Amino acid sequence: MNLILLGPPGAGKGTQAKRLSDQFGLAQISTGDMLRAEVAAGSDVGQLAKAVMEAGQLVSDEIIIRMLGARVERADCANGFILDGFPRTVPQAEALDALLAAKGLDLDAVVELRVDDAKLVERIAGRFTCASCGAGYHDSFKPTVVAGVCDVCAGTSFTRRADDNRETVIARLDAYHRQTAPLLPYYAARGRLKTVDGMATMDEVAQQIAAVLPQRVAS
Ligand code: AP5
Repeated sequence: MNLILLGPPGAGKGTQAKRLSDQFGLAQISTGDMLRAEVAAGSDVGQLAKAVMEAGQLVSDEIIIRMLGARVERADCANGFILDGFPRTVPQAEALDALLAAKGLDLDAVVELRVDDAKLVERIAGRFTCASCGAGYHDSFKPTVVAGVCDVCAGTSFTRRADDNRETVIARLDAYHRQTAPLLPYYAARGRLKTVDGMATMDEVAQQIAAVLPQRVAS
């Protein structure tokens, strides 16, 4: 049971991947989260990635493919995984095909979350995260129940991503349209692509995803 969530920045990939991970016991693999952890740790990869991410560009395929290859070896992937933010280029998709084939695995579905560009800027500009537990929120669409207090862990410290500013979002959207959107025909040609309306509410998007998953995944 291996899924890809595909969509532009702010489409809701992380939001829906978390729900699917909780629901089906699949590992959530976000290459963006992995890179941010490398940046925070000051590792060699983090030092290479930091400026690229802050400019809204894509980190090199070589780094990403090596990182992903190591990640899927971990025990929590035994039941399957949800890829959130990977692949983002055709070479990454080809590397994933080779990796899955070597393991005798297949992709069950590639779910595209389709959202208008104007909505994405609004979503990203309002996003914030609990600094203690990582729970995600939005100023308008998903505020904390009590202002300034995390619903999950009662933490009172929140962070906003360095690349969540208007200028960088426009560069990230441009990278999506130029480098990642070609994956839509790539997966359509392989009979794996399912598209849902990412403009709907979070609950409605989750319902749409459940409806397009192959029966053996959704049951
Ligand atoms: P990454 O971390 O993957 O960011 P992204 O793809 O730009 O996606 P986001 O995390 O911004 O958005 P999301 O779709 O997860 O939306 P979310 O659920 O948070 O990548 C960051 C950078 O790392 C890249 O720019 C690149 O430099 C590098 N990188 C990562 N992977 C790479 C790769 N494979 N190759 C090369 N480089 C790579 O939702 C957004 C907000 O909207 C939230 O506040 C949420 O609460 C709200 N929201 C979500 N759904 C809804 C809804 N239905 N209605 C209303 N609000 C909603």
